[in-house]
Amino acid sequence: MGCAISVLAPKTAGECKTEDAVVHLSKEQIEMIKESWKVIEEDIAKVGIIMFVRLFETHPECKDVFFLFRDVEDRDRLRISRELRAHGLRVMSFIEKSVARLEQLERLEVLAVELGRSHYPYNAPPKYYSYVGAEFICAVQPILKERWTPELEEAWKTLFLYLTRLMNRGYQERNRHQQVGASPKERNIAL
Ligand code: HEM
Repeated sequence: MGCAISVLAPKTAGECKTEDAVVHLSKEQIEMIKESWKVIEEDIAKVGIIMFVRLFETHPECKDVFFLFRDVEDRDRLRISRELRAHGLRVMSFIEKSVARLEQLERLEVLAVELGRSHYPYNAPPKYYSYVGAEFICAVQPILKERWTPELEEAWKTLFLYLTRLMNRGYQERNRHQQVGASPKERNIAL
């Protein structure tokens, strides 16, 4: 697939217990992201599609989340593939919102935590979120051509790490909330 990216995933990304440390974006990184976004946004739909096609090729297990989200009758291939692509666009518009809020990180934080919460009922676990950043980087590199630099790559990786850690936080909060009141068996706790 021709794009080797060091994985953004923390090693134990599923649970991320030790991965809740704050990720810091420098002023320079924020500027670089905003500049490059002006170019990326012209191809926003294309990037969304490439990103998700790649995601399902490199991590086919992610497809199951979408199959499970739909009921059985809904598994028509074309429709599913349209919906998978639609998710690529949803991710891109979330990135657009994020870039627009880079100067108001407290507002972005609320949005990203909320997004993680909303992924809980979709059964889309945090360990998958980190794959998205790596595929995004592979998709935008050829668009930015010579404007792509190691520093810019680091800046985008940092933004995805920032967002996915917050999403993880929201997901885990909702997970804990759902488990309050559940029996030990339901909580999968060995007594
Ligand atoms: C950086 C990572 C991701 C971002 C920014 C993101 C963003 C979004 C957004 C904005 C929505 C629209 C509805 C909502 O606000 O809840 C959504 C829905 C959804 N996401 Fe994600 N997502 C990410 C990763 C994933 C992954 C890795 C999966 C599965 C493997 C996934 C599965 C879903 C599903 C099943 C839905 C509901 C159906 C749909 O709207 O297509 N998401 N996501």
